[in-house]
Amino acid sequence: MVPQEPVALQTANREPLTARGTAFIETFGCQMNVLDSELAGATLSEVGFNVKAANASGRGMGEADVIMVNTCSVREHAEQKAYSFLGRAYRLKKQNPELVIAVLGCMAQKEGALIFKRAPYVDIVAGTQHFTKIDEYVARVKSKRERILAIGRDDEVVSAKRYRIRDGRHSLQVAVMRGCDHHCTFCVVPNTRGMEQSKPFDDVVKECEILVGGGAREITLLGQNIDSYGKRLTPRRTLAELLHAVAKVPGLDRLRFITSHPADLKPELFNAFKEIPNLMPYLHFPAQSGSDRILRAMRRGYTFDDYMRLVDKAREACPEIGLAGDTIVGFPTETDTDFERTLELHRRAEYQNAFVFTYSHREFTPAEKMELKDDVPEHVKNERVNELLRVQREVSERVLARHVGKTMPVLFDRKDPATDPVLRVSESTEAGFAAKHEARITKHGLSGRSPQNLPVHVNAGRDLTGEIAEVRITRATGLALYGELC
Ligand code: SAM
Ligand code: F3S
Repeated sequence: MVPQEPVALQTANREPLTARGTAFIETFGCQMNVLDSELAGATLSEVGFNVKAANASGRGMGEADVIMVNTCSVREHAEQKAYSFLGRAYRLKKQNPELVIAVLGCMAQKEGALIFKRAPYVDIVAGTQHFTKIDEYVARVKSKRERILAIGRDDEVVSAKRYRIRDGRHSLQVAVMRGCDHHCTFCVVPNTRGMEQSKPFDDVVKECEILVGGGAREITLLGQNIDSYGKRLTPRRTLAELLHAVAKVPGLDRLRFITSHPADLKPELFNAFKEIPNLMPYLHFPAQSGSDRILRAMRRGYTFDDYMRLVDKAREACPEIGLAGDTIVGFPTETDTDFERTLELHRRAEYQNAFVFTYSHREFTPAEKMELKDDVPEHVKNERVNELLRVQREVSERVLARHVGKTMPVLFDRKDPATDPVLRVSESTEAGFAAKHEARITKHGLSGRSPQNLPVHVNAGRDLTGEIAEVRITRATGLALYGELC
C-alpha cells in the first residue's frame, strides 16, 4: 500500500463494509479500554468478521485481515509496548500487503498523525470516540486505499449500542459515562478522553435490560469518575438514582460500579449498599498517595484524613465491603516521609487489593505544563514500589484471611482468557492484573468472583459457568480465596 496523506474523517457518509475475514485485537489499559475493545470487536463481528484476541508475541496471526491495537497512554511503558506490538504486525503486513492495521484508543487520540510518521505501515488511527466506526474505516482502507485519521469529537460513542459479542458471558460492563472533568496533575485521561459525558439515564437502564435478557447476571457500571454521573443530564441525575433503577432490572443478580473519586464520593451513596440488595459490596476508590502535600500537588482535592473518614463511613454502612485502591509512587518531590504516609494509608485503609504504579511523566498532563520535574530517581521509585507491594501483600493476606470459614455466593463467569478478545489484556492497570491472574489459576479448576470481587478458586468437578453457587472458603492467599462447593 502506498503511504499517502491521511484522510481526516468527519462522521457522515458511513461506508458499507463488503470485505470479510479475521480480525485480531490487542488491548492495553483499563476496564474502559477492555469494554471499548469489546465494542470495536462487536462492530466488526456484526459485519461478518471473525474477531479474535491477538497474541502479544504476534504469533498465530498469519490469517489476519485486520489487526487492531487498543492503546493506553497513562504510562510510557504501555505506549512502548503498543509500538512493539505494531512492529510485529508490520512483519505480517510485509507478507500480506492487504492487511489493515489500526491503532485505537488513548495513544491514537494523543499522538494522532504522529503515529503515521513513526509507523508508516499503519492504516487507521482512531481515537477514543471513534472505535465503533471501525467497520467503516476498514471498508474505506480496503476499497479506496485511504489512510484514516479519526480523532475529533464524536458523541456517538456515548450512546454506542453494540451487544452481540457478549453472547455467552454473564458478567458484563456498561460505560455510563466517558471522559473526566478532574485535572489530576499526573493524568493524561482528560486529554485523551475529553470532558465528562454521561449516557442518558433511560439508555443505561435499557442497555442493562437487553444484556440481562441476553443472559447477563452481573453488570458493572463504568466511568472514570462515576460519582459525578448525570452532572450534565437534563433533568440532572445521580449515581444513586441510577444504581436504584438498574438494580431493579428483572433477573439482574449483581450490580457493581467503578471507579469512585474520593473528592466526589458522597457518604450518602453508601446508603445504597444498605438499600439495594443486589449491589455488591465493592468499592474501588483510588487514593493515589497518603501524603497531604503530594495529594495537593496532584490536585486530588482531599487529605489523608478526608480519605480515611470515607473509609470509615463505607465500613460503617457496609461492614463486609471490599476496598480497592490505586497508588502512584515517585510523584515529583516525593520524600521518604511522604512515602511513609502512603504506607500508613494502605495499612489503615485495609485494601483487599491495590494497583500500584510508579509515576510516569506524560506529555499533555498538567504536570508537564507546570514543568514539574520528574525528580525521583528510577531506583528510588522501584524500591518504594517493592516496599509498598510488600506491605500491601501483608494487608491483603490479613484481609482475605478473614473470609476463611465463611460461605459466600460465587459467580462463575470466565472463558479462557487466552482466546477471549475481551479478557485478553496486555500491560494494563487493573484489567490486566485480573486477566493474568485468572489465566494462571484456571488451569487448576474453576474461577469465579466473590461479592467483594475477589477471585475464588474451586475444584468443582463440573462446569459451573454462568451459575452463582455457594462456596465455603477454606483457604486464602494475598491474591485469592480457595473453597469448596456447599
Ligand atoms: N479515574 C481514576 C481515579 O479516580 O483515580 C483513575 C483513572 S487512571 C486511567 C488509572 C490509574 O492509573 C490511576 O488511578 C493512577 O493510579 C494511574 N496513573 C494515571 N496516570 C499515571 C501516571 N502519570 N503515572 C503513573 N500512574 C498513573
Ligand atoms: Fe485521571 Fe484524575 Fe480523572 S486520575 S481520570 S484526571 S480523576
